[in-house]
Amino acid sequence: RPAPACTLVIFGAHGDLTKRLLIPALYNLAGNGLLDPDFRILGIDRAAGGAAAWRDGLSATMQDFTRDRNAEFHAPSIDAKVWSWIADRLDYQQADFSDLEQVRALAAHLPGSAVFYLAVPSRFFGPLVETLGRAGLLREQDGHFRRVVIEKPFGSDLATAQALNRQILSVLDERQIYRIDHFLGKETVQNILAMRFGNLIFEPLWQNDHVDHVQITAAETIGVEQRGAFYEPTGALRDMVPNHLFQLFAMVAMEPPSSLSAETVRTAKEQLFESVRPIDPQDAVRGQYRAGTVDGRPVAAYRDSPGVAPDSVTETYAALKLYVDNWRWSGVPFYLRTGKSLGGRRTEIVVQFKKPPVAIFRGTETASLPPNRMILNIQPAQGLTIEMAAKRPGPAMDLAGVQVRFRYEDAFDLQPNVGYETLLYDCLAGDATLFQRADNIDAAWAAVDPVLQAWGASAQGLEFYDAGSAGPAGADALLARDGRAWYPLDGA
Ligand code: BG6
Repeated sequence: RPAPACTLVIFGAHGDLTKRLLIPALYNLAGNGLLDPDFRILGIDRAAGGAAAWRDGLSATMQDFTRDRNAEFHAPSIDAKVWSWIADRLDYQQADFSDLEQVRALAAHLPGSAVFYLAVPSRFFGPLVETLGRAGLLREQDGHFRRVVIEKPFGSDLATAQALNRQILSVLDERQIYRIDHFLGKETVQNILAMRFGNLIFEPLWQNDHVDHVQITAAETIGVEQRGAFYEPTGALRDMVPNHLFQLFAMVAMEPPSSLSAETVRTAKEQLFESVRPIDPQDAVRGQYRAGTVDGRPVAAYRDSPGVAPDSVTETYAALKLYVDNWRWSGVPFYLRTGKSLGGRRTEIVVQFKKPPVAIFRGTETASLPPNRMILNIQPAQGLTIEMAAKRPGPAMDLAGVQVRFRYEDAFDLQPNVGYETLLYDCLAGDATLFQRADNIDAAWAAVDPVLQAWGASAQGLEFYDAGSAGPAGADALLARDGRAWYPLDGA
């Protein structure tokens, strides 16, 4: 069903996010008939130029995507009819969005419902929302809605996130705010809920009687590339952990919500985040990549990247262990890791089960039985892998580890998708289930705050790892201390 008509106002019309993700997502939504005929897109940016120039630039970028296999959006061709449907609805307004008068002037273009998408650097979030409020653009009247979509990073620690929440809540109602975490737009991430709560075979095992530990990995082969200026004050922990990894953690560890309504799901997440024991800085490891080789290509050290200080102590890798103090997870460690310029690209969750209580197989200790693991493959592989023991053929009762696999592409016809389609559609339709509530954001920052504080105070303990490796030695030691090991980046 098409989402209700409105104007989508994109601040940062000429930015990267708009070109690479938002416009392709809108094109996909239009192709599936999910946008209303009266839907409009108003791009706002500082650059001079009119609607025609913006439209032509976007048309050219869409054509480029057909040739670039590595683009987030890649389709063999652009459907001219669908694209002209979008192009006909694109308008552009030059405005300096820190200027109240210029923002106020936008009101003339916005008669009905509107969604303001803040595709701008994070330092503008608070001031821009305030300006929109003062300009009267956030007032909902005559049954029209006004919503604001805020990208990450939402604050840079607990205190700044709380301050930003206070600032935007002074001119907006919580229900008008859509704090985006693009991981929640991934089919495979939403599928975790389907796996857990649409089946009965997993959930009874999903607790501390049966689960030994959980690993959550977001390993990237790309380095900092051209994002040095953003990444230097940010680092791997802030960039990935309280947002993306915590969303994966929530999907896998929260209690079954009684429905998928926004408040119910967000309350279930909140209860989980509040049960996270403050992380002991001793249980956190950070690393920075040196020069090395990734996928056969030489990669310069982080410190030699553009926009990075030659003596930078910013981490490009973070690993940590956390505990959840609730009935379900008491005593089960969750190990989280993320890093850039690693030897493998994979985002996945490994749920490792305990060993059977006794081994009835002669000559086999329970300890040497292959472990049962359930691996939720998020990307690039999309699906689910179960690792289990099976009898090796032959006269002896010999056990071997085997894998059972479900792959998305085998079961479904996958359409090109950039991951923003669901999020944009939900926001236009007024469903905030996949967006963060203020308290979710605060609780996630609160959980990592002790580590941020410790790391901010001193660079002691920063390790170095070769680009193309599996990360710093300390990360292996973190698990080895508990008699465990990371699931290999080149496994499954
Ligand atoms: C972004 C981070 O939010 O997520 C990037 O800022 C990171 O540093 C990216 O590369 C990872 O997202 P995805 O969808 O490519 O796994």
